[in-house]
Order: sequence, then structure tokens, then C-alpha cells
Amino acid sequence: MKKIISFIGARPQFIKEALLGRRVRERKAWEHVLVHSGQHYDLRMSDIFFQELGIPQPAYHLGVGSGSHAAMTAQTMLALESVLVQEKPDALLVYGDTNTTLAGALVACKMDIPVIHVEAGIRMLPENMPEEINRRIVDRVSSVLCCCSEVARQNITREGISRGVFVTGDIMYDIFLQMRPLFPADDMLKNLAVRRSGYVVVTMHRNYNVDCKERLEAVLAGLEAIAQSGLEVLFPVHPRTRKRMQEFALEHVAPHVRCLDPLGYLELMALVENASFVITDSGGLQKESYYAGKRAIVIMPDSGWRELVDTGWNTLCAPDAQELQKAVAGLDLTVRPPADVYGSGNAADAIIEAVAATLSI
Ligand code: UD1
Repeated sequence: MKKIISFIGARPQFIKEALLGRRVRERKAWEHVLVHSGQHYDLRMSDIFFQELGIPQPAYHLGVGSGSHAAMTAQTMLALESVLVQEKPDALLVYGDTNTTLAGALVACKMDIPVIHVEAGIRMLPENMPEEINRRIVDRVSSVLCCCSEVARQNITREGISRGVFVTGDIMYDIFLQMRPLFPADDMLKNLAVRRSGYVVVTMHRNYNVDCKERLEAVLAGLEAIAQSGLEVLFPVHPRTRKRMQEFALEHVAPHVRCLDPLGYLELMALVENASFVITDSGGLQKESYYAGKRAIVIMPDSGWRELVDTGWNTLCAPDAQELQKAVAGLDLTVRPPADVYGSGNAADAIIEAVAATLSI
């Protein structure tokens, strides 16, 4: 049986791995060895996902932790190299666009180990955003590129990459559909004392927004105005964002916004499913809101999930208090979401088949 190392390290990767890893084991498709870089390490940024989603303990935990981009990437590369030397896998599977993804792809391709990239072909501005740099490089060195949509395939075709490219659909849709019966909606609504459709869920962690005091302050001011208009604003705060709010002395500029600790997958999805709408700069949450039938205002200059913006379901918005209020006022909450934009919930099988076909498994 072939051996593939699945390399994860950050929150959205745990969610994707939960489903794909499970399906690989069910189908006995290959020996699936899990390696965690340690990029995310807090209980609420990492462990909770393993517990909630039943992800097995990784065979290796590299314990890399936080640091500058160079430090994090370099340490991850060094630590992973030893694992690859020892394990001699037939391929390395990476997800998305984080520094863990980049480090994994660089080490493997230099060791002549084929790279499988799940969520390939996403492109968005600004080009100098860390995630965008990571995506472009990882796609360039990958042997199997699994795209969520035809738009993603076209993005890479335009860059001259055509071998090993598959449209598999989005694995986050698979897991959303499978886990939906477990979303603890009643508990969440009760614990937070909010009523269905009476609140908005906000997440924000992109360095583009939160590392810039003016942008962060402007968004918080916009959220405060929304909260004062009578809609509850629930804001699970990413550690990066919390840190910046402290550094920039912005902790008290939005007193009516309810800041929460980061949430696990099931808790967050329970809230999203019952929200009025979502405000976010997260890539994953833009899609998850759509899967839950909720519209999202995306606080970024561009979206990797073009289809949702082009169909008018999601709205791009500048990090500006007035613009945010305008976007909220302009939301029509009565329209139905477009159908099956990212496949029909069988991406895990499609990915397994794409890998098997390309790597002769
Ligand atoms: C990373 C990804 C981003 C992804 C996001 C999901 C990169 C370049 N970016 O961004 O694409 O959407 O994960 O969350 O890889 N921290 C903690 N505890 C943790 C993790 C982080 O306190 O468990 C703090 C640290 O201060 C750290 C900061 O958050 O420096 C940022 O973490 P990092 O992993 O660098 O980037 P994210 O913003 O999480």
C-alpha cells in the first residue's frame, strides 16, 4: 500500500483533514500518516478540532509554533525534512495556503516527493498577501492539483499549469453536510442568550486588516454602529486579532460588540446557521456561510471565492465604518443562494480518485 503524509498545522486544515483522512481510512485508499506542524497550538485553535471532529492524534507533531514568516517556514521545513527522510512517503498532501502548506510543498518537491495540493487554483488580490504568495508557489510545484471549481482550474491553466489538475469540489462542503446534524444550535443560542436571526457573526484575522491600526479601528467602529442599531454582534476573536487590539489600544472602541474566545467548528457553524448574516475576512467562512444559506460581507479588497461574489451572494466591502454600514443596509436577506457552486458534497472521493489516477495508487 502506498504511503501519503498529510501535513496540517492551522485551523482550516484540521477541518479539511477530518473528512479526507476519515474517507481515506474507510476506503483503505492508502496509508495516511498525519503530521502536525504546530503552527496553531492553543487549545481553541488546534486541540478542540481534533476532539470535536474525531481526528486521530498525529504521528508527528513538529511543535513549530508562532514566529515571523521566515522563522516559521524555515523551522517547519527543517523539522519536516527529517520526518520525510524517515518515513519515505510516496506523496505529501497539503491543504490551502498557510505557511505550513508552503513549507511542506517546498521540502517535498526538493526531495522529489510528489505534492498533492487540496484547494489549488485560488487567486486573489493583493498579490503580496502571505497566503497569495503561498498559493502561487505551492500550485507551481504540485503534481496533483485539486480545485474546488472550474474558476480555480482556469486560474491555473492561465498560468500554464495543466497536468494533474482536477475539479473535485470543496471538501469543506462534505464536512458541513456530514456534521450539520451535530451543530449544537440550541445550546449556543441559549448560552449566548441570542435569538435566531437576531445577530450577526463576525470573524476577522487577516494581517491585511488586523495588522493595520486604521483598518482594524475602522472595522470595529462599523461593528459598533451595527451593534448600536439593535442587531447583536458576536465576534469570536482570533489570537492575532486580540493581540493587535491590545497593542493598538482598541479594546474599548466597540463596547457593544460581544467579543468571544475562538470557537470550535461545530460551535461556529451552529452560530452561522442561525445568524442573520456574516461579516468576515476568512476564506473558509465565506463558503461556510453560503453552505448555511447565509450571506457574507467580505472585508477584503478581493475574494478567492469569486463565484460567490460574481453571483452576488457575497459582497466585498472596504475596511471602513461607513462602507460596512452601507453594505449591511444593502443586504437583501430574502434571496435564495445559488446552487452547487462548489460541487455536491463528494469532494473527498473525487480527491482520492484524482490522487489514485495521477500517482498510480
Ligand atoms: C494562518 C494562515 C491563514 C489562515 C489562518 C487560520 C498563514 C500565512 N496564514 O493565519 O491563511 O486563514 O491561519 O486561522 O499561514 N496565535 C496564537 N495561538 C495559536 C495560533 C496563533 O496565539 O494557536 C497567535 C500568535 O500570536 C501568532 C498569530 O496568532 O503569531 C498569528 O498566527 P499565524 O499562524 O502566524 O497566522 P494566522 O493569522 O493564524
